Amino acid sequence: SILIVDFGSQVTQLIARRLRETGVYCEIHPFQKAGAAFEKLAPKGVIFSGGPASVTWDGSPRAPQAVIDAKVPILAICYGQQTLCLQLGGTVEGGHAAEFGRADVEILKASPLFDGLWEVGSRYPVWMSHGDRVTELPAGFEVIGTSENAPFAIAVDEKRRYYTTMFHPEVVHTPDGGKLLANFVHRICGLTSDWSMAAYRAEMIAKIRAQVGDGRVICGLSGGVDSSVAAVLIHEAIGDRLTCIYVDHGLMRQGESEQVVGMFRDAYNIPLVHVDAADLFIDALEGEADPETKRKTIGRLFIETFEAEAAKIAADGRGAPGFLAQGTLYPDVIESVSFSGGPSVTIKSHHNVGGLPDRMNMKLVEPLRELFKDEVRALGRELGLPESFIGRHPFPGPGLAIRCPGGVTREKLDILRKADAIYLDEIRKAGLYDQIWQAFAVLLPVQTVGVMGDGRTYEFVLALRAVTSVDGMTADFYAFDMAFLGRAATRIINEVRGVNRVVYDVTSKPPGTIEWE
Ligand code: XMP
Repeated sequence: SILIVDFGSQVTQLIARRLRETGVYCEIHPFQKAGAAFEKLAPKGVIFSGGPASVTWDGSPRAPQAVIDAKVPILAICYGQQTLCLQLGGTVEGGHAAEFGRADVEILKASPLFDGLWEVGSRYPVWMSHGDRVTELPAGFEVIGTSENAPFAIAVDEKRRYYTTMFHPEVVHTPDGGKLLANFVHRICGLTSDWSMAAYRAEMIAKIRAQVGDGRVICGLSGGVDSSVAAVLIHEAIGDRLTCIYVDHGLMRQGESEQVVGMFRDAYNIPLVHVDAADLFIDALEGEADPETKRKTIGRLFIETFEAEAAKIAADGRGAPGFLAQGTLYPDVIESVSFSGGPSVTIKSHHNVGGLPDRMNMKLVEPLRELFKDEVRALGRELGLPESFIGRHPFPGPGLAIRCPGGVTREKLDILRKADAIYLDEIRKAGLYDQIWQAFAVLLPVQTVGVMGDGRTYEFVLALRAVTSVDGMTADFYAFDMAFLGRAATRIINEVRGVNRVVYDVTSKPPGTIEWE
């Protein structure tokens, strides 16, 4: 395995991701706890991350000396390079021109780090982000790669197997960075690719059993991939001591609740409480037009409903559940490194299932905390979840309520559900579903005049939206061909009573958002 010592860089988790891509197991630990983690893990190699501090600051982070002295190969990136060099007797200075963004590194000497990748005398693009720089190398080090503003872009001590880079190999802007990291773990640390989702599954099941003991777990299912994968994994670990709660707010898409309940109860035989709370939610939303109030109302009712069900489960005579499962993913977990050198770290967790409050007083079980979204999908496949479920587009927690601008009514939800199902059906038939990040219909609170047969109609306008995106932070509208849009519009207007006009949204994000509310 590889130990990643975290000095607080925004991109530390990308190092872990790249290593998993090479099939090697790794763990990230904040620098304060890295010494203990090193002893426990006994890794074959160590990577020091970058970080926001300056080594010239009083009390700035240092690597545990025992790790440096352990005779295990070290790759030290950016801040990691600076502290490693300083701790080995080199000099680091602040105040040089800060360098951010692309730079070209010229390779001066061969190294196992570049085997099969970079050649002496050539230049390669890398991504820099730093203010300080090493000005004097420790004894035994030599420069083997240099750039205009970073004379010590790559400095190594091949004998002691210390490798340092001023640039970030883990980001995509360093195009060969993944291969560089692969060289480090395979050629320098001698690790083979034996880490896989099957291994992760077995490892997580053991961890869940160790954490939960003979206790019980409650899991809130949202109908999405994350909570579903978490539930299936936990069920494999502890069987019927897991109970799932599916709060059905009546704002799901057509057939969705039936699919979730059917899959969990029948296909996986997982104990599931299906709470039909549609009336509660829809009555509370009736006449409410403000998007934020809608979200808050839904969030509050979700928590109240969930807590009431959890209380019933606690009173069923099988012992009160002490654990709450959450589908928290790695990007949701920000472990901020404190620079005081103290042992405490602050952990912020994003609670996917409606932000269940602390007063539930349950311990969290978060088996997906180390994974990225596409890795969760891979784990879902490993667990045998159907591809049609794993590949589903994201769907917002507040559901169709935020796709009905203005007040939500049962009638409007019915119209929207039917139209949305036809739109998605056409997208699937055209083989476009997997090229699109998210596609959905929005029922506008606007009526327009139309003519059908011999009669005048006065019905709602439906907007169609489809976007491409990598992470939902930015998005482009999807450029359907007009024939497709015409087909979808014709079917919707013919088959759905209440809609007589269809428009397509061609706004990107920014300036628009993906959802309309
Ligand atoms: P926006 O509309 O902000 O959406 O561009 C970005 C992504 O987040 C989803 N989204 C939500 N998800 N609760 C959620 O769980 C919400 O209130 C919410 N609002 C937006 C949206 O569907 C898209 O994937």
